[in-house]
Amino acid sequence: MGGRIVILVSGSGSNMVSLARACKTGQIPGDLVAVVADRPCAAIEKATGMNIETLVLSPSEFSSRDEWSVALRDRIATFEPDLVVSAGFMRILAPEFVDAFADRLINLHPSLLPAFPGAHAVRDALAAGVKITGSTVHFVDHLVDHGPIILQEPVRVQEGDDESTLHGRIKDLERTMLLRACRLLLEKRVQLRDGRVVAGHAAAPGSRG
Ligand code: GAR
Repeated sequence: MGGRIVILVSGSGSNMVSLARACKTGQIPGDLVAVVADRPCAAIEKATGMNIETLVLSPSEFSSRDEWSVALRDRIATFEPDLVVSAGFMRILAPEFVDAFADRLINLHPSLLPAFPGAHAVRDALAAGVKITGSTVHFVDHLVDHGPIILQEPVRVQEGDDESTLHGRIKDLERTMLLRACRLLLEKRVQLRDGRVVAGHAAAPGSRG
């Protein structure tokens, strides 16, 4: 059995589906043990269809964002994850959540951070008129869309691009990037040490040591 992965989602879940398939086919040494969302969404429906355990925990069920974050942390801890992946999860996580999974919590973001953090990264990149944008996989810290960068890849903005066409090409890239990042982390080829991403000691695939 490989490393245990929990993925956090809010939307369409294309990255979740690609991660689930990669786990099932042994492309990465992990098992997607749960798909967690802050709202009912297509990603949850897709996960259910793939027989993956799901959890929807809405902030509206709690009196504050912090209370929700702590409840989410405690529910996710019961899955005993080796890796927690935020892929299209459109909520800010409180420090209590981040600290609990500090060296195993990563986020996928559709821009070359630190450019264009926030919920509208692709729209903001187009509005700024940049010629190159891209995607970032990073460890999560206490700031929004911020933390030590694991992988980053560029995407060229094309003449006539709109948010949907540009985001489509970014997502094509992200599916591969996210798998690569999960593999690097589960095999301990990269690690977080003193707030920096460093080369780790490779472990045998599936080893949790
Ligand atoms: C991805 O492009 C991801 O980078 C982005 O949401 C999309 C999710 O797509 N995340 C953010 O914007 C976070 N700030 P998916 O639901 O099809 O995987």
